[in-house]
Amino acid sequence: MHADNWAHKAKLMGYRSRAVFKLEEILSKFKPNKITTILDLGSAPGGWSQFIIKKYPKSQVFAIDTLDMDSIKGIKFFKENIENINDIEDIVKLKGKFDLVISDIAPNLTGISAIDCENIFDLNNLTINAAINFLEANGSFIMKTFQNNNLKSLRKDMELSFNIVQTYKPAASKKKSGEIYLCGVK
Ligand SMILES: C[S@@+](CC[C@H](N)C(=O)[O-])C[C@H]1O[C@@H](n2cnc3c(N)ncnc32)[C@H](O)[C@@H]1O
Repeated sequence: MHADNWAHKAKLMGYRSRAVFKLEEILSKFKPNKITTILDLGSAPGGWSQFIIKKYPKSQVFAIDTLDMDSIKGIKFFKENIENINDIEDIVKLKGKFDLVISDIAPNLTGISAIDCENIFDLNNLTINAAINFLEANGSFIMKTFQNNNLKSLRKDMELSFNIVQTYKPAASKKKSGEIYLCGVK
């Protein structure tokens, strides 16, 4: 399906972004052990949070983004940079208790490939560290990254702390974007 059609489908279903279909497909293949306490990193405009709370209405979802996000019933949102996650008291209280960390974080691209690759790599490493610190044992982790020269080393970094590390390129992800998702179990 073309990207515009995914966007249209999302709109018809009341979702804020077509990114929901990426998460839906990943979850159907990489099945987390539990989906009850979720950390959604890079959550705005809120498609993934909407999807989680709709499918798992009893879950607790904490969402972070540097941008504002319109409120969603059942979601605790914090306008914050992931760098400062340890300053968010409500989230810090649940350290080691999240069973799913999802990250769709993507940096603003400069168009200069070397700089963009470094920015993505740094953000992904911050995200991996957050997942290690906040997930419980056996918790699941899903993270957006990009196909570039750092992908192999990123995957190796993940394999040091996570089992069953896999990559997914969901159908709703634009082919030319280079975006890909790494998943693992702590
Ligand atoms: C592709 S969008 C996420 C879409 C979202 N998953 C959805 O379903 O609507 C990526 C988000 O990452 C956020 N982001 C980028 N850098 C960030 C950072 N350092 N800390 C927190 N969020 C960040 C951006 O502001 C942007 O909203």
